[in-house]
Amino acid sequence: MVFILALPPVVANGQQAQPASSRYQAPVLSGSDTSKLRGPRQPIFFRHDVHAGQDQIPCMYCHYSQTCIGCHQLIGGGPPSHQAEIKKVRDAWRERKPPEWIRIHALPGFVRFPHMRHIKALGTQACVTCHGDVQNMAQVSQVSTLRMGWCVRCHIKNNVTRDCSVCHY
Ligand code: HEC
Ligand code: HEC
Ligand code: HEC
Ligand code: HEC
Ligand code: HEC
Repeated sequence: MVFILALPPVVANGQQAQPASSRYQAPVLSGSDTSKLRGPRQPIFFRHDVHAGQDQIPCMYCHYSQTCIGCHQLIGGGPPSHQAEIKKVRDAWRERKPPEWIRIHALPGFVRFPHMRHIKALGTQACVTCHGDVQNMAQVSQVSTLRMGWCVRCHIKNNVTRDCSVCHY
């Protein structure tokens, strides 16, 4: 999967962001709130609860081929803490320096995991099955163990192969 501050901007793969709804408002967080969050602090404090929760941008909009600046050339408002982070997005774009996001989920090199194939088989709504309730996370952290037992349990449930060589090179 490719993402980050992709060039060129504007709508990737024909998907449109859905209009923001008034149902869910992500909370405004202060510095002391954010220090309690699980998961690593990223170079830009990018919030999934704002983007995927409050603004209902589909997961695949960003996690297929996405662009930040397509929206943030225009969108720069919100509370001051948001504005400061959005300024980093614009600076990164101007300087042509994509943020160096810290990788959260990573399998060891000897494991084969075809990500897109899982999404195809389980559906684009299945992100939560493996990643938890990301749309309500202010900062992403790992929820599933990603251990072999976790993989194998789901393969048994779905009647998928447990052949060692399928997952191991
Ligand atoms: C507006 C763009 C955007 C949307 C929409 C979005 N994401 Fe993300 N996602 C990112 C960015 C940027 C990162 C890297 C920074 C971070 O971890 O917060 C990321 C990181 C992640 C990670 C951690 C990656 C790792 O390093 O292991 C997961 C898992 C994830 N997103 C799942 C989701 C899911 C599930 C949804 C939908 C509910 C979603 N994302 C919607 C931009 C987006
Ligand atoms: C489809 C439009 C859209 C895309 C794409 C998008 N954003 Fe946003 N972003 C928004 C909206 C809407 C807000 C809410 C603004 C506010 O706070 O009022 C927001 C808020 C933010 C904020 C402040 C709140 C927070 O999340 O901490 C940051 C930082 C941010 N975006 C970074 C990014 C980054 C980095 C990307 C690319 C990975 C990205 N955005 C992609 C629409 C978008
Ligand atoms: C069957 C479980 C499963 C499902 C379903 C799933 N993921 Fe993942 N995801 C993983 C695993 C395992 C990794 C670590 C892969 C690796 O290290 O090679 C990962 C890695 C990621 C990463 C970080 C690495 C990368 O490839 O960029 C992102 C972002 C991500 N997933 C987003 C999503 C989104 C968005 C969805 C839904 C459209 C989704 N995932 C569905 C298990 C899953
Ligand atoms: C559905 C995928 C899957 C299948 C099938 C699978 N494995 Fe694994 N295996 C993993 C993953 C993921 C890891 C890395 C995470 C971990 O160590 O639990 C792993 C780790 C391992 C390790 C390293 C353990 C360690 O502690 O470092 C060994 C050895 C191993 N597998 C052997 C096997 C053998 C033998 C089989 C067949 C009987 C098998 N695996 C089948 C996914 C799988
Ligand atoms: C939530 C359920 C679920 C989890 C968790 C899961 N898988 Fe799968 N996996 C599936 C399904 C369903 C398929 C069948 C996809 C298809 O038919 O194309 C599959 C297929 C695969 C395949 C392709 C098998 C083939 O026949 O070529 C591999 C390799 C694989 N998974 C590895 C893993 C590894 C490694 C993990 C853990 C890191 C894992 N899976 C975790 C559900 C899961």
